[in-house]
Amino acid sequence: MRKRFILAAVLAAALASGAQADPTQRIKIDAGRQFFDANCHRCHSVDADRKSYGPLLEGVVGRRAGSFPGYPYSKALAASGFVWTKGAIRAWIEANDQLVPGTKMRHVGITDPTVQDFIVEYLASLQP
Ligand code: HEC
Repeated sequence: MRKRFILAAVLAAALASGAQADPTQRIKIDAGRQFFDANCHRCHSVDADRKSYGPLLEGVVGRRAGSFPGYPYSKALAASGFVWTKGAIRAWIEANDQLVPGTKMRHVGITDPTVQDFIVEYLASLQP
């Protein structure tokens, strides 16, 4: 009984906070934003008007790795030639230096699959 009440409250809060068709997805994206703010935001902007030390991540899902115009990538990432899928981003935040040896991004080492999932869903929601 109590569990159902909590679930209903969470869903109501999610709907109130800006409504998408799928409330579970909304919750993931909101949680992902918080993990992103804690672990990534100090190096990565998600707003094309703001410069950042790391490349802009708005629109990164579906973009070729190392291809944001004007950003000084490491040779390794610029030459890697793959496209950022959700799976590739999971592997990157778990062990970026293993996915692309020679990258200049510092190891962040996020191994919890739930946290990976939330961050990836947040990034996927940021389309320019
Ligand atoms: C200490 C700074 C720093 C932190 C923290 C950081 N990054 Fe990075 N990130 C970089 C740099 C620098 C690059 C460019 C790497 C290169 O050129 O080899 C990069 C590259 C990337 C790329 C490739 C983008 C492209 O255009 O190909 C993705 C995706 C990415 N980071 C995601 C993340 C996520 C998600 C987090 C948080 C979990 C994170 N980064 C945390 C500095 C950082």
